Amino acid sequence: MRLLGICNIITCTPLSRAVSFPLLKLNARSVASDSRKQPPWIPPQARPDAQLPRLKIYNSLTRSKDDFVPVDPMGEVVTWYACGPTVYEDAHLGHAKNYVSTDIIRRIMKDYFGFRVKFVMNTTDIDDKIILQGRQQYLLARFKQEHASEDDSVSDSVLAEAKAAFRHYISKNLPSLPSSTSPETYSEAAEKVYKEKAKPPPLADAAAAKEGEAVTIANLLLSAHIGTARSAAEALQAPGKLPEFFAKTEDILLPYLDALHGAEIESNNHKIYLELSEKFERRFFEDMEALNVLAPDQLTRVTEYVPPIVRFVEKIVANGFGYATPDGSVYFDIDSFEKAGHSYSRLQPWSKNDPALQADGEGSLSKGKSMKRSESHFALWKASKAGEPAWPSPWGHGRPGWHIECSAMASEVIGKTIDIHSGGVDLRFPHHDNELAQSEAYWSTPGCQVQWTNYFIHMGHLSIRGLKMSKSLKNYTTIRTVLSKGDWSARSLRICFLLMPWQDGIEVTDDLMKAVVSWEGKLNNFFLKSLDLWQRSSPDTTTIQELGIADQQLLSALDKAKAQVNTALCDSFNTSAVMRILSDLVTESNSVDKLSDQTVFLLARWVTRIVTIFGLDPEGDLSNLDRIGWSGLGIPTPAKPYIYPASQLRDKVRTLAFSGSVDHTAIAKFADGITIAASTPVVESSKPYDQVLQQFRTDVKALAAQQAPTKDLLALCDQLRDVHLWNLGIYLEDRNNSQPALVRPLDKSLVEARAERESASTAKARAKLERETREAEREKELRERAKIDPLLMFRTSDEYLEWDESGIPTVDAAGNVVTKSKRKKLVKEWEKQKKMHDEWLVTQQAA
Ligand SMILES: *[C@@H]1O[C@H](CO)[C@@H](O)[C@H](O)[C@H]1NC(C)=O
Ligand SMILES: *[C@@H]1O[C@H](CO)[C@@H](O)[C@H](O)[C@H]1NC(C)=O
Ligand SMILES: *[C@@H]1O[C@H](CO)[C@@H](O)[C@H](O)[C@H]1NC(C)=O
Ligand SMILES: *[C@@H]1O[C@H](CO)[C@@H](O)[C@H](O)[C@H]1NC(C)=O
Repeated sequence: MRLLGICNIITCTPLSRAVSFPLLKLNARSVASDSRKQPPWIPPQARPDAQLPRLKIYNSLTRSKDDFVPVDPMGEVVTWYACGPTVYEDAHLGHAKNYVSTDIIRRIMKDYFGFRVKFVMNTTDIDDKIILQGRQQYLLARFKQEHASEDDSVSDSVLAEAKAAFRHYISKNLPSLPSSTSPETYSEAAEKVYKEKAKPPPLADAAAAKEGEAVTIANLLLSAHIGTARSAAEALQAPGKLPEFFAKTEDILLPYLDALHGAEIESNNHKIYLELSEKFERRFFEDMEALNVLAPDQLTRVTEYVPPIVRFVEKIVANGFGYATPDGSVYFDIDSFEKAGHSYSRLQPWSKNDPALQADGEGSLSKGKSMKRSESHFALWKASKAGEPAWPSPWGHGRPGWHIECSAMASEVIGKTIDIHSGGVDLRFPHHDNELAQSEAYWSTPGCQVQWTNYFIHMGHLSIRGLKMSKSLKNYTTIRTVLSKGDWSARSLRICFLLMPWQDGIEVTDDLMKAVVSWEGKLNNFFLKSLDLWQRSSPDTTTIQELGIADQQLLSALDKAKAQVNTALCDSFNTSAVMRILSDLVTESNSVDKLSDQTVFLLARWVTRIVTIFGLDPEGDLSNLDRIGWSGLGIPTPAKPYIYPASQLRDKVRTLAFSGSVDHTAIAKFADGITIAASTPVVESSKPYDQVLQQFRTDVKALAAQQAPTKDLLALCDQLRDVHLWNLGIYLEDRNNSQPALVRPLDKSLVEARAERESASTAKARAKLERETREAEREKELRERAKIDPLLMFRTSDEYLEWDESGIPTVDAAGNVVTKSKRKKLVKEWEKQKKMHDEWLVTQQAA
């Protein structure tokens, strides 16, 4: 039993409201922002001796930043329930945004604020989408098996079925096409009916896209259908072999086979769904691991919680807030819930009567008639129709409604009050509002309400060019694809999300991507320099260097940064502010000349700690207080025995080359003396590095033997850096003050800087070429003009009728005598031409 404010009972008198509290002052505050009466949100209360940070969290329940106080009276344990994925497809970038943002906050709670976070996540392994997908995939696999042939030829019966599927697809999804449309006539018919819409809509302007999002999405959906039918029509006209044929007709076969045979699937055949959900759950957690997202402390799956879900529904019905219908479904009764003094749709009251959102929440298999008493009531338990999996219940064979799962599982695992409940922003209504209502209906007793969740946090969406990702639009990028293509790494994605407020939508723009690359590159450089210093500094810690003015300055900047970071994180996890503070601190440390090693290490270790807390270092270890940097700063292990000697040889050649008179003998001797700290023969993974080293050594010795000039030696050194090692993903960063080159892996900021330099220099070269071409053309024109004899220059023009003996016009075409002033002008032109022509004659004679 807790000492204070048991479960935030609202209508009962809390035991103690006004507590004196060492760090926080707490006030009950009403969230009623509209005319409807909303119950006040009551903050939990901790024991006076609990040590709590002054953390505020933006709470969707109050739509404001609330002081964070966990239910645990000692303020140590934090319970957190996160809505996980519905596992029937690979997770896409939009999911990455949600789960990475959640992970960032979880890590800050745990590793910065020191809470003991108990993080429970659900995965939905049975729901309408999974049922549909599982059934369709099963039926398609069966169909393929039944129609397999030795030589992979497409039989007449397959063709006939696929043609029927084509008609079915068109009538369902492209109803404006004539019903007689065949694969042969499809292209023309679609062109005619959907002329404009068949083209993907212009999305260039993100703001405009947002404004017309509904229209745009409808258009995208339509163009996806048009594309699906087109690909099927092509396959039907030129079937080819079975595998390609199925690949092109799968999307029309799936819904067709389901319409034909879906209802035949046995309701106790759960296997076909579990195979699908297990596969995608496994893939989901692989993706999360690749993104350095911590695994949940506990994972709940709907199919493992059916009996508690049934009991949960029974109690809601017993409390008078739910009713069963004759068909065996159970619905939540919003009206009696509100009559009893509860409030429905607290998170998103403005959506309370939004039929589209409500229908979406009920699932795709629930379309059509239901026996519920009001359209806004939602399903707690769904009677299973033919072809749907089912579990026994007091109301007959059925399956859990969507929202009940989270309420029942969270209540089962965490209990009456959850500290934090999270999910993507689209879950606010109806999912979380329904959960909230169900759980209050379950836990509250007459006259005593329960505040089931104290802090709801919702992650903003990711959109690209104004559109949120969606599978049905056939336009989404899976996490796997993104990471394997190399446009984004797990780190750069996370940096992107850290740079923006977690609760806001993110629009990935070129500017944002640039900011990501530059932040990451800056930190890479800072860590590399610090690590290099660390490796070269003497391990003798007794020799404390004296602190100079620069050190004092940086140490006070560090103290300031620490305080600012604390303020920012307490301000509802303002990571974008923290990212700037880190970047500014690095800038400041770069701007001073002489820092003592200790100061550099102090700065680097603190920055390392913060980026590790943010999850930017998959190899991070917060218990290692000496760690500097993050993973990926070193060159690959197989490269080390070869690349370090290559770089040393290169340093030596450069030093000698710069020293005035080059000592070729010394160079040759050094090249011979290189030692390689690896066993022979060279292991396979080291071979490319070994080859580069051997080639460089041979080239150096050849140049030394020829007594080659400095510029050739330096060119060879540049070639090693810019071509051979660059192509192996390694960079040698030359430094001043006779320091050896820094051996480092390439990163995106280096690659982009080089691309920019090169495009700038090609642009320059192109401009020069154009200028030269223009000049050449002008000269040529002048030369051509110079060939014209001044005597004839005006005679070829039909502007004039008569000329004098020098060829200067006297009468114009209209028969008027040329005026004096005009003549003066013409004489000038004539004299100029004469001069040019005379010069030309001279060159001709010379030739
Ligand atoms: C888990 O959360 C997801 C939202 O991400 C939701 O779709 C699903 O229904 C929830 N599952 C359960 C078991 O409540
Ligand atoms: C899908 O999205 C990508 C990037 O967001 C875009 O380049 C592409 O044009 C889109 N495709 C369609 C069919 O809209
Ligand atoms: C984060 O902090 C910055 C700088 O202090 C501030 O401008 C910004 O509004 C804060 N963001 C949020 C979401 O509060
Ligand atoms: C090295 O010195 C040159 C000129 O003295 C300067 O432009 C350059 O920025 C310096 N490079 C580094 C890495 O300090």
